[in-house]
Order: sequence, then structure tokens, then C-alpha cells
Amino acid sequence: MNPNPATGSIAWPADFLWGVATAAHQIEGNNLGSDYWLLEHLAPTSFVEPSGDCCDSWQRWPEDHALVAGLGLNAYRFSVEWARVEPAEGAFSPAMLDHYRRQCDGLRERGIAPVVTLHHFTSPRWLAACGGWEDAATPSRFARYCEQVARALGNRVAVYCTLNEPNAQLNSYILRGDRCADNEAGIVAAACKALGSARFGSYFMGDSYRVRDICLQAHQLAVQALGAAAPQVPSGMTLALQALECGEGGEALYDKLFEQARRPFYEAAARDAFIGVQPYMRFRTGPAGFLPTPTGVEIDRWGHDASPDVLEAAVREAARCTGTAVYVTEHGINTDDDAQRLRHLQVSLPGLQRCIADGIRVLGYTHWSLLDNFEWRSGYAQKFGLYSVDRQNFERRAKPSAAAYRELVRSLRAG
Ligand code: BGC
Repeated sequence: MNPNPATGSIAWPADFLWGVATAAHQIEGNNLGSDYWLLEHLAPTSFVEPSGDCCDSWQRWPEDHALVAGLGLNAYRFSVEWARVEPAEGAFSPAMLDHYRRQCDGLRERGIAPVVTLHHFTSPRWLAACGGWEDAATPSRFARYCEQVARALGNRVAVYCTLNEPNAQLNSYILRGDRCADNEAGIVAAACKALGSARFGSYFMGDSYRVRDICLQAHQLAVQALGAAAPQVPSGMTLALQALECGEGGEALYDKLFEQARRPFYEAAARDAFIGVQPYMRFRTGPAGFLPTPTGVEIDRWGHDASPDVLEAAVREAARCTGTAVYVTEHGINTDDDAQRLRHLQVSLPGLQRCIADGIRVLGYTHWSLLDNFEWRSGYAQKFGLYSVDRQNFERRAKPSAAAYRELVRSLRAG
């Protein structure tokens, strides 16, 4: 550690990655070949609205990069869309790979490290028709795609994230009492009909225990493939790590969630260069699910406990359970009140600094998100962005929290 002689505070590591994060399907728009596009347009659907044009980042990525640079950051986490890169099984698109290569070059030119996620929830439709994340051949399919991306992007990438939150599905499945969502059978039937296929499997569907095991295999094969194609680039997976506490009578649920939806992932991540940590909320287990949000705590737009110490708790747990370096690949708050976002950041980051002071290796912090974007099933009403986006002309407008994040990062870097 390196205490600042003037203030006595702990300086952030010089190579710390300060960033913002996005994901392809949430910002690019018109991701026609993906399973989610299909799901968004089905009847029945569980999406409140379709993703449509999103933030039009497919075309406007140079504008997005300029915003990241303007924030004074040195890292940008974004994802490569598998459905675009491999639109039919085994048929890789040189043009699509080139699109992402140009994005990496664009970031490098601005002195920003590209942090690339290879799978952020969405998969190609053809994969879904093969059974998706329940199919035994999916790990090798995923590794083949990762290898192609790594060969195309080469040394431009600073960090690879393989799978985003592969523990999130099982978490929800366990909370439903080891069951799929009630409407899932109807959605799968409609998707099979639309695709003319006998099977349909998506990342958040099916038997989540099986999906977990397939994801863990896929991650392992992907790390090997990436290591062979781009040996100098560290890779790891990112996990949904809400602060989990055991409330009164909640011991059995707590143990089940921890043993099934955390421990196997921690054991796998222990072998990786880092673990990606993504905390947003705190949940307390009770006898029949999570306990209601206590009164008096900071809440997000969904009414969940979004206390700022959630970040520190998650980082400490991940470090303790894996022994590997921690990278906060996402953290933020869903709020219409931008002053709350700012406060949340200002109170959360000192917790991360305390982790570093205690000797935990933290590689970086990536705020979710650069832009207000397509928040999956709950659509565009949810607001995580430092910038708002006009839904008609896609104009990005800085919220006050953007300048404040810039200033916060500047002052923390200065020590
Ligand atoms: C996901 C993001 C999502 C964010 C906010 C994370 O679980 O990786 O895609 O937008 O949480 O809900």
C-alpha cells in the first residue's frame, strides 16, 4: 500500500481502471439475430417493450467513446454481440469482427483500455434453437466464438469478461422454489413456433442448475481458448453479487443461495486472473423468500435496498471466497433522482478504498452505466445512466452526475 504522506489516506493503484460499462443489446439497437429480439416480439412476452433502436450505439459508438474520454476515464467495458459475429452456426462475419476491432482501436487512440464482455445475456437465435444454455455442445460453441473474437481483436483488448452474471439465473430459480417463471412454458412454445424449432433455450430459461453447470464449463473452455489466442489478456467472469444477509428464519434459504448460486462460481473464479463483482442491492433471507426492504435505508427506483455499503460488502466477500483479484465490473443505481446517483457514488467509493487499504487487490471500478439504456424486461423507464438519451434523435445529455463522477475520479486519482 502507498499512503499519501500529506493526507495519510491510501492512494489508488496507479494502473487502476476507472471506467463505465454498457452491453451490446442494451445500447446498439436492432439486434435482430438474437434470442432476446425474438422474445421481445413474441406473444406472450415478459418484456414491457422491445429494445428497438436502443441508443443507436451501433452507429454512434464514436460519440460514446468521446463521452468516456470526456469523463477522464481510462477504461470502457462494452460487449461483443455473438449473434452479429456468428449469425449462423460456424459462419463468422469478418465485417462484424472488424466493427468491434475498430471500436477497440478507437478506444486505444483515446488512451482508454477496452474491457470486452463476450456474452452479456443475449445469444444467437440459432443457439437458442439448439437448446441454448442447457445444450451440452454450447460450451464448445462458446469457446469457438471466443477464440474467433480474440484472434480478431488481438492485443487491442485489455481485459476479457467471458460470461456476464452466470449465477443470476439460479438465484431467481431458487427464490421461486426451484421453478421456472410461471409464463415460461407459454413463451418457449411461442418461440419454438416462431423459429420452427423443437427446442428453445435462453440464458434465463430452463433448469437453472443445468444452465449453471453448462455456464461453468463454457467459462472454463472460453478461458482456455482466450488464453491460447490472446495469452497476454487477463480473463474472468462477472458475477451478480448483491449483498446477501441472513435474516431471522432465513438460514436455509441463505445457505442454499450461497452454496448453489455462489460457491461453485467462487471456486471457478479462484483459478482466474480476476473475479468481476457486480453489486447493486442488499437482500436479507427470510423463512419464505427475501424479507421486505427495511424502512430508513437508501432505496432504488425498484424499492430495493441500495445502501452504499453494498459495494464494500460484495468486494470483501468475493476476495475472501476466491483469493483472486477483484474487478468491480458494474455498480450503480436505478434512480430518476440524479442527486441520489451522485450521493450513492460518493458514499460507495470510500468503501472500495478501505478494501484496497486492507490489502485486497482491486483492479478497477466500472460504473453502470454510461447511458440510460434498455433495462431488459423492464425497458427504458429505468435510469442507470450518467447521460440521458433522447429516444427520438438519440442525443446524449450529461446529467450532473457525469461531471461529478469525472471530478470524483480526478480527485481520487490525484490522492
Ligand atoms: C446487468 C446489466 C443490468 C444491470 C442493472 C446487471 O445485472 O449486467 O445488464 O442493466 O444489472 O440492472
